[in-house]
Amino acid sequence: MSAYRIPFNKPGLVGHELTYIADAIHRGHSAGDGCYTARCHDMLQREMGCHRALLTTSCTHALEMCALLLDIQPGDEVIVPSFTFVSTANAFVLRGAKPVFIDVRADTLNLDETLLEQCITPRTKAIVPVHYAGVGCEMEVINSVAGRHGLKVVEDNAHGLFARYKGKYLGTFGQLATQSFHETKNVICGEGGALIINDPMYVERAEIIREKGTNRSRFYRGEVDKYTWVDLGSSFLPSDLLAAFLLAQLEKYKEIRATRQRIWQTYAEGLSEWARSSGVSLPHIPPYVEQSYHMFYLMMPSLETRARLIEHLKARSILAVFHYVPLHLSEMGLRFGAHPGDCPITESASDRLLRLPFYNDLSSDEQAEVIEAMRAFPC
Ligand SMILES: Cc1ncc(COP(=O)(O)O)c(C=O)c1O
Repeated sequence: MSAYRIPFNKPGLVGHELTYIADAIHRGHSAGDGCYTARCHDMLQREMGCHRALLTTSCTHALEMCALLLDIQPGDEVIVPSFTFVSTANAFVLRGAKPVFIDVRADTLNLDETLLEQCITPRTKAIVPVHYAGVGCEMEVINSVAGRHGLKVVEDNAHGLFARYKGKYLGTFGQLATQSFHETKNVICGEGGALIINDPMYVERAEIIREKGTNRSRFYRGEVDKYTWVDLGSSFLPSDLLAAFLLAQLEKYKEIRATRQRIWQTYAEGLSEWARSSGVSLPHIPPYVEQSYHMFYLMMPSLETRARLIEHLKARSILAVFHYVPLHLSEMGLRFGAHPGDCPITESASDRLLRLPFYNDLSSDEQAEVIEAMRAFPC
């Protein structure tokens, strides 16, 4: 139970989660790659139009699989936004790569594609755009820069399930992409993720890496008569119990999106006047982007006003939270030679961004209370 009356996040049930879990147990298959996993794969492939989707234990693990699939070696460089979660960089660092931190755009907080060329060196292997808040990065430019330099693109789409950029689903632009089904996301199963494969050349090895480095998937399909150790790998596949929970959520994704769209728009409308008069900016959504309605954030005028607003809401038992600490200023980031001032937009956004309570079960009354509390805050 949260200590707050209106928490920041509250995971909930939306459909047949518990029935499907019970069914998975009764079928006698609760380990990975049972029938619920297969149904999640089919659903993701059908809806997104990707070549292959493979459920993983987390988005972090899907990113680690990407680093293995791209054969990242010690000394390789991978371009990542500084304004992201640790795993975007750490997955590649685990293989010995050096993360090259790139700043974000002030409007969307997505990787600033105009800075890409200057980050590329002969050691660069990949670009990892993060679709912050499920608002698409400038994928046309990113893919064209990557193509010109022979680089791979891995989309970290943890926030952007079923969002689109110029009509095409996020997660279908890079050779590889990753999703998260962590309890804070729109569609959840507690902890979970998916690897999205758009270039068929990665499928066979991805199946092996996901199954502890063995060709067990081929064995299950009857393509080999025994399975054995053939490559690097780990246990990246989730239990079918989690897939059962996830399928029930995926089945309801349109309802989830409609609910979250309503919550997002209510915040935007309810706070626009207050924001204008208080020097606060609301999220910018480019007209050619269909966002995922993953979060609603504000950009406060300063670190100090943000701290005061958090306290003001806390006094009313409402939890609002900031987000990423710049990776280039973290202990690890500094070890890779980054300096304060390297990514000024990231540094400023990280100090000023505040996320408001946002979950499927947020009631109209609760949301009205949050909006009222915000309007009562003198910036
Ligand atoms: C951009 C981004 N990438 C990756 C992750 C990691 O996701 P997971 O918890 O599924 O490993 C997160 C977590 O929220 C994230 O925000």
